[in-house]
Amino acid sequence: MQVGIDQIGFYTPNKYVDMLDLAHARGVEPNKYLIGIGQSKMSVADQSQDAVSMGINATLSYINKVDLEQVGLLIMGTESGVDQSKSASLFVKSALKLPPEVRTFEIKEACFGMTAGIMVARDYVRLHPEHSAIVIGSDIARYGLKTGGEVTQGAGSVSVLIKANPRILALTSGHSAYSADINDFWRPNNSAVALVDGKYSTEVYLDFFQRTFQAYKSKQKMTTADFTAILYHLPFVKMGLKANRLAVAEQDAKTKKRLEENFTASTLYSKQVGNIYTASLYLGLLSLLENGTLSAADTIGLFSYGSGAMGEFYAGKVMANYEQALNKVADEKMIARRQQLTIADYEQIFKQALQLPADNIELSSDEAPGYWYFAGTKNHVRQYQRK
Ligand code: HMG
Repeated sequence: MQVGIDQIGFYTPNKYVDMLDLAHARGVEPNKYLIGIGQSKMSVADQSQDAVSMGINATLSYINKVDLEQVGLLIMGTESGVDQSKSASLFVKSALKLPPEVRTFEIKEACFGMTAGIMVARDYVRLHPEHSAIVIGSDIARYGLKTGGEVTQGAGSVSVLIKANPRILALTSGHSAYSADINDFWRPNNSAVALVDGKYSTEVYLDFFQRTFQAYKSKQKMTTADFTAILYHLPFVKMGLKANRLAVAEQDAKTKKRLEENFTASTLYSKQVGNIYTASLYLGLLSLLENGTLSAADTIGLFSYGSGAMGEFYAGKVMANYEQALNKVADEKMIARRQQLTIADYEQIFKQALQLPADNIELSSDEAPGYWYFAGTKNHVRQYQRK
């Protein structure tokens, strides 16, 4: 029995900063951001979008195709949690009207959180093939104004339905994981922005990629040429490019060309959205599926990295007619619909979004009708509303 990704949904907030504007405002040569980092835009979440509302919105895009009574598991991976105790997934479950019998919880290990959820969901559906599982990654990457990490921020969510006989990607057996207790990136409880040892984090990322990729190929008796595409966690596009360069080194011209072209296709959405932490790898998957050159039974490798740090490499096989389960037009529209912010407006939104709104004050949202948003708290209980 094949188990894997049957549906994939995406949401990003309705505002962005152009990297050219940011470079000018910060007195940086624009090509450092555009080429050196590899980003052209980044999505910005205002006070009315958080991990919960973005996760609801990402799942809404496919929920009408799901038999809700079959959903046995809902997992949310996030490092932008809204509560130290209650799972973000309970708010999502309620908005999506999932049955009370669903098992639901939140997972945290930096950007690895959504992959952790997918692995749990894959094994769950293998044991309970009559059930499906929803796994959401939803995050706002905030490093702070005028910091080195500012250019690598972003906001958004990707949601997948894991099911038997999936329409998009069958997850193959086997994986290779690697972990180490290190301090490359973290966010203490008293900080709304991440702390990072930037250069060190990029070195550890590449080290973990090489370890897990080699171990995976050796366990599965595969070579690099067996992959049609390799996807990477994309904190910024240049990071994935550096890992892909390591992957294609010493490959024949045909393999190199294929992996490079599919890598480029996998970065088109992230280049405009920025880092969405847990969901970044899966935004790369969506971008590849909608813009790459794939055929049924092609093997796609996935490298997941979460600071702290945890890495994992696994793979999936493309299903026949996978395009029919996607909605490229809607996903492109999601990115194109955003309004460009001036740097002054972005800075104001950034500062405001770091403040907790006073209790019993209703927040409004300028989102389009149909989307959910965070509407403030009542007696310290978070409220979510649909426009
Ligand atoms: P920086 O020090 O500002 O940048 O920080 P730089 O000086 O290293 O320059 C970046 C690149 O631009 C370099 O290229 C320059 O040569 C190039 P590289 O050597 O890397 O190939 N450059 C230019 N290129 C063209 N024209 C120019 C020009 N000028 C310079 N004129 C850094 C960069 C990424 C460290 C910083 O932005 C940062 O700290 N970001 C946040 C940390 C991060 O994203 N780390 C990634 C790995 S860790 C990870 O992925 C996990 C994470 O997602 C969190 C989680 O797991 O939850 C972050």
